[in-house]
Amino acid sequence: MSWYDLKGKDLISVKDWTKEELDVLLRVANDLKSRHYSGETLNPLENKTFMMLFFNSSTRTRQSFEAGMSQLGGHSQFLAPETMRISLDREPGGGESIKDTTKVMGRYAEGAGVRILEDKVDYYGQGTDIMYEMGKYSEIPIINMASDIYHPCQSMTDVMTMQEKVGDLEGKKIAVTWAHSPWVRSWGSIQSNILTSALYGMDVNLAHPEGYELDQDVLGLTEENAKKSGGSFTVTNDMDEAIEGADIVYPRNWMSPDRYEIGKEKEIEMASQHKDWKYTGEKQKLADPGYLLHCMPVDRGNEVEDEIMDDPELSFVYDQAENRLHLQKALMALTMGGSF
Ligand code: CP
Repeated sequence: MSWYDLKGKDLISVKDWTKEELDVLLRVANDLKSRHYSGETLNPLENKTFMMLFFNSSTRTRQSFEAGMSQLGGHSQFLAPETMRISLDREPGGGESIKDTTKVMGRYAEGAGVRILEDKVDYYGQGTDIMYEMGKYSEIPIINMASDIYHPCQSMTDVMTMQEKVGDLEGKKIAVTWAHSPWVRSWGSIQSNILTSALYGMDVNLAHPEGYELDQDVLGLTEENAKKSGGSFTVTNDMDEAIEGADIVYPRNWMSPDRYEIGKEKEIEMASQHKDWKYTGEKQKLADPGYLLHCMPVDRGNEVEDEIMDDPELSFVYDQAENRLHLQKALMALTMGGSF
């Protein structure tokens, strides 16, 4: 590959980038982090603009992209769809089309990010379809800032953080486990994490109660990634079995595959039947040592006990949140044509 080929490239799923390309992203992210801590100022994206279209709320993604763009010398623009002409209604008279919105954004900016998931989509996959549709019409890179299927910026940050903390990931064991919460979270962070963890040679143990199965295509691709990398992939309905001997534990709530048929209230009721699916001090004793990885926000007391969340020896979460900044700076610099 040529690094130059990353210029203009969309990132909607990690499956669309080769391992070599993802390695370049990590390399630049680590370089930018070093430069950040040595006080070096870089302006590779001076006078450039990154559009951020958020259909859903965000703490980390918005702040890290916005701060990142400032640190690269450019500007980011926050776009709330309710203040725009865009509509997802495809009927004539419903509002401005995705095609026209995307084409116009490209006349003002050098890159654009989109977040659309959970209550903002009518069916599983719609948010991701919209991003690919934007990618088809766009002359500027389209970055997935969390969709209903994928969250590539999060999962590449997970890889960066795990490498930083435990070194080479080959042969390291990660337990990615469903955890109880009434928040009814989407699948993107978890599905992207298992894909990338397997790609980087980890032994991935996925655990969830019956009824919380993930996307079959994602599971198949995770299996393929594990085979290629020399890692492994197992699925169990036993949280303890998944955590046994794990270097890293990622306890996170996600909704059932029936979410868009049964509604949110029914999901909350279903999840309440599994309150024992929580990462506790007792469960951590099964792990080795069971460092905490979590995309955040964390439902403290439901997904994870405070004693683990607040243990600086065990919890990666704040460094992981910080690494979103460095990873996304690298992504914007590479895809929006900065050179430094
Ligand atoms: N992990 C993550 O994407 O956080 P936000 O939803 O706060 O952006």
